[in-house]
Amino acid sequence: MADGSYALGTHPAERQRLERQHAIWRDEAVAAWERAGFTAGQRLLDLGCGPGFASLDLATLVGPTGRVLAIDSSPDYLDHLRRQAEERRLTQLQVLPLDLAREDGVATLPAPGGWDGAWCRWLCLFLPRLEPLLTLIAAALRPGGRLVLHDYIRWDTFALHPSDGGVARFVERTIAHWRSEGGDPDVAGRLPALLEAHGLRLLQARSLLACGDGHDPKALWLQDFLAAYPPRLAQAGFWTAADQGALEADLEQAARRQSLWVTPALVEQIWERPALGTPPALNTTP
Ligand SMILES: C[S@@+](CC[C@H](N)C(=O)[O-])C[C@H]1O[C@@H](n2cnc3c(N)ncnc32)[C@H](O)[C@@H]1O
Repeated sequence: MADGSYALGTHPAERQRLERQHAIWRDEAVAAWERAGFTAGQRLLDLGCGPGFASLDLATLVGPTGRVLAIDSSPDYLDHLRRQAEERRLTQLQVLPLDLAREDGVATLPAPGGWDGAWCRWLCLFLPRLEPLLTLIAAALRPGGRLVLHDYIRWDTFALHPSDGGVARFVERTIAHWRSEGGDPDVAGRLPALLEAHGLRLLQARSLLACGDGHDPKALWLQDFLAAYPPRLAQAGFWTAADQGALEADLEQAARRQSLWVTPALVEQIWERPALGTPPALNTTP
């Protein structure tokens, strides 16, 4: 990218959008951490933490006897998070700048084999290479340590009904943009085979796809993205004035009529590095 970051950018307006996004998805994150057994005193990683809205919640969860290491490639996001942690006196929260698509990233990780858990949300879809991240996760977790993933399995389920095609065009163009940067908006479907190859086993999975009317929080989240992202798409050459006109016509119609919004299909996966001597049973409830 021109600004040295990734497809969405790391400018202040995007940071604020991520904060609103976390507020909308926070309950699902907290519920997933509970299902995975994340608790006080643990050592947890936040992989692709962004400005760290989830990292701050994780730091509160583990408390002063625990540790959270928040990892991202964006120095601006990590600076923001470091300041937030200082203001809140969360000394258990530290940050590590690292490109998680780099082959040698694992060498930078402190305390390999000593982490109780890892949280990874909306990172994998942007990575041109997953292997370095998965190698790092497998090396980081202690036996019995757990990985909680929230990522997309089908981004093209994102839809507005009724529609004259403006939203569908946005979805198609956004997918094309992310793929052109080496991302995969359907990445969650590739993860089971890859994580199994790294010796992890799947404990639980569930769908987080949502649908609702135009006032539903998840629909407002989609509308927020539709307002924020077209300039970025246009800058990258993936969006025209005609596309924008069609999108605005769809949004005007949605504001006047009864409308159904459907989110991209997000899935939760909870994985475990098996404890030594544990039989390789699948779908054990954590
Ligand atoms: C959509 S944001 C999600 C942030 C956070 N996980 C959340 O749920 O709010 C994606 C994050 O992935 C980071 N990222 C993208 N590519 C990366 C890479 N190769 N290495 C490390 N972080 C990366 C970006 O800097 C950004 O902070």
